[in-house]
Amino acid sequence: MILREMLIEDLDQVMEIEEDLFHVPWTREGYFTFLTKENTMFLAVEEKGRILAYCGLLMVLDEGDVTNVAVRRDRQKEGIGNFLMESMIRLAEEQGVTVIHLEVRQSNDTAIRLYERLGFVRDGIRRNYYEKPVEDAILMTRRSGI
Ligand SMILES: CC(C)(COP(=O)(O)OP(=O)(O)OC[C@H]1O[C@@H](n2cnc3c(N)ncnc32)[C@H](O)[C@@H]1OP(=O)(O)O)[C@@H](O)C(=O)NCCC(=O)NCCS
Repeated sequence: MILREMLIEDLDQVMEIEEDLFHVPWTREGYFTFLTKENTMFLAVEEKGRILAYCGLLMVLDEGDVTNVAVRRDRQKEGIGNFLMESMIRLAEEQGVTVIHLEVRQSNDTAIRLYERLGFVRDGIRRNYYEKPVEDAILMTRRSGI
């Protein structure tokens, strides 16, 4: 299992995972746009040519915003999400990012627990942020060195 940058060639596999996991998936064009931006970090976990997981971060000065986190359905609950997010945090810190924000569906207990283990704390709520189904977003922030 290796961690590497997500590449445009990965998008077939990424879209398959994305469409399986999310009711409102990102589009291929969306990924393409973000992969070609300068201030983003998109990482993938690969095993024998198969993408198992990926995540994305948009960075502005010393702050980052998590745009995507996904682990292939049949490989969840093995610690891959934790490995991926831990790696992204470390690499972002190396680039001077000290504050990372994200939002997550209020009902997504697994993701919320994962983020809390990594040091994210809840610091707000965005009402009716999500569609299909409509749901509030929990806003979470992680500050380095706290
Ligand atoms: C949320 C998500 C990214 C988590 O990824 P993951 O790889 O399953 O995360 P982890 O394996 O690190 O942790 C998940 C659980 O598995 C447990 N686990 C980890 N390794 C394990 C192992 N070897 N054996 C048994 N359990 C294990 C963890 O303790 C954790 O348990 P908890 O839910 O009781 O806290 C993944 O479930 C996912 O892609 N979900 C759909 C998309 C999504 O919701 N994305 C986030 C949007 S904000």
